[in-house]
Amino acid sequence: MFNIIPQPVNMIINQSKKGFTLHTGTTISPYPFVADIISFAKKQFGKKIIMHEDTGEERSIILKLDESIEHDEGYTIKCENRRVFINAKTENGLFYGLQTLKQMLLQTEGKIPYTEITDYPRFSYRGYMLDCGRYFYSVEDVKRVVDLMALHKLNVLHWHLTEDQGWRVEIKKYPLLTEKGSMRSHTNFNHKPHGGYYTQDQIKEIVAYCHERKIKVIPEFDIPGHMVAAISCYPELSCFARNLEVATHWGVKHDILCAGKETSYEFVYNVLDELIELFPDKIIHIGGDEAVKMRWELCPDCQKAIKENGLRDENDLQMLFMTKVDEYLKSKGYASAMWSYDKIENSQNLSPDIAWTVCGMGDDKELIENELKRGRKLINTHCYPYYFDFPYGWNTLKMVCEDGGALTDDDTETWGIEAQMWTEYVPNMKRLEFLTFPRLGAMAENAWAEKGYPSFATFLHKANDYYKLLDVYKVKYASIKKACPSFIYKHASSLWFKRRVFHWQGLYNLIDDAKVKKQAKK
Ligand code: ACM
Ligand code: ZN
Repeated sequence: MFNIIPQPVNMIINQSKKGFTLHTGTTISPYPFVADIISFAKKQFGKKIIMHEDTGEERSIILKLDESIEHDEGYTIKCENRRVFINAKTENGLFYGLQTLKQMLLQTEGKIPYTEITDYPRFSYRGYMLDCGRYFYSVEDVKRVVDLMALHKLNVLHWHLTEDQGWRVEIKKYPLLTEKGSMRSHTNFNHKPHGGYYTQDQIKEIVAYCHERKIKVIPEFDIPGHMVAAISCYPELSCFARNLEVATHWGVKHDILCAGKETSYEFVYNVLDELIELFPDKIIHIGGDEAVKMRWELCPDCQKAIKENGLRDENDLQMLFMTKVDEYLKSKGYASAMWSYDKIENSQNLSPDIAWTVCGMGDDKELIENELKRGRKLINTHCYPYYFDFPYGWNTLKMVCEDGGALTDDDTETWGIEAQMWTEYVPNMKRLEFLTFPRLGAMAENAWAEKGYPSFATFLHKANDYYKLLDVYKVKYASIKKACPSFIYKHASSLWFKRRVFHWQGLYNLIDDAKVKKQAKK
């Protein structure tokens, strides 16, 4: 039996029939994305596969589009004497078939017994969120994350590009955003400046790289909170035109985008216009999380907007703000998504067309049921267990394995699952990989395999082969022992994390609020 991750829906092996052996000179149908398995075969087995149209000759891996396959992303594999047939309705399915074939080749050293596989995903949205706002990750780093996502049959890169600690995407209309807003003077780890940004050409390069690997890209422009880097460049975006520096430390900031001034909307729409040009996948994440309303409560413009629109309070103002931005995106043929992180009290005032990445509210069954009735799309990004920046002591591998995946009992009510990599305390790829793997393997099974997979036991059973696969890519994963920590390690890692969460930034926020209150009284 093969130990494929994520587990295929159906797999039959027949040892009494002849199987397939990889040779130098084996041909493969000439799709651009087969370059990946060609280099895999060369590196692992020293066999040179050749791209070639099927000429009916033997020793071929034949990829074929097949309308009769039901699922858009599904595929079938038949490994028989001298030939492998991969059929799928779309190129995406062919691509996923090749990911499975790679694991079969690896586990048999290139000599696959007669096998038939039928496979398709449980959820159509299978994502990974990469926060490049706190720490900047180079183009090469992002591509590596994308490669590893593809290996797990994930299909959405949710790319968090704007933050208090750094603005990462070049916007031609507002050059300061990257000239100034992409750099912070120091970080929580040391006293050196840190920053970086992606030029529009680099963004296009990464989007194309993702598309070659059948991954859509949802950029995140986080508004109205998490805007300190932008405010540091253009103070008029905040309620009191405050002169701030790009944030250095983590912590929920109290200066957010003013929702009372027309100029704020102008800024947002102009930025969106450029994002739309860069990101063709027709959906943009507009944040919405951790937007503390302290400044809005004091701001004459925000208060005027509340009055003029007959709103109850600042929460309603945020609902109106998000809804207006969603309407703008819809007018351009785009959809939007936002976090349901904080308690959303008055979601009836929020457009139901905005999909939610549900991270903090997964337990609020009533809210979930109501929003489903209103037609809202929901993605399971619940912080337990899908925040992979949390230490293994908080989100153990076992917890990921045992998460049901769906937000309700009915799978059709969940759009999909997304793993989260916030990087407040993840300064480099080494740490990112340690935290992501092996949890991503279990997450991918929740997202792709049939309901009920994985169990902790089935995942542990497959772990050796999974680690061998990760070794091919030199992934710096956590061992099973580290991913399933003992009582002592669990609490030690939790303390380490908490120590970093509670720091003097809280005190700084209090002093800063007093300053704003004084200014508002003037
Ligand atoms: C979040 O964790 N700020 C969505
Ligand atoms: Zn305001």
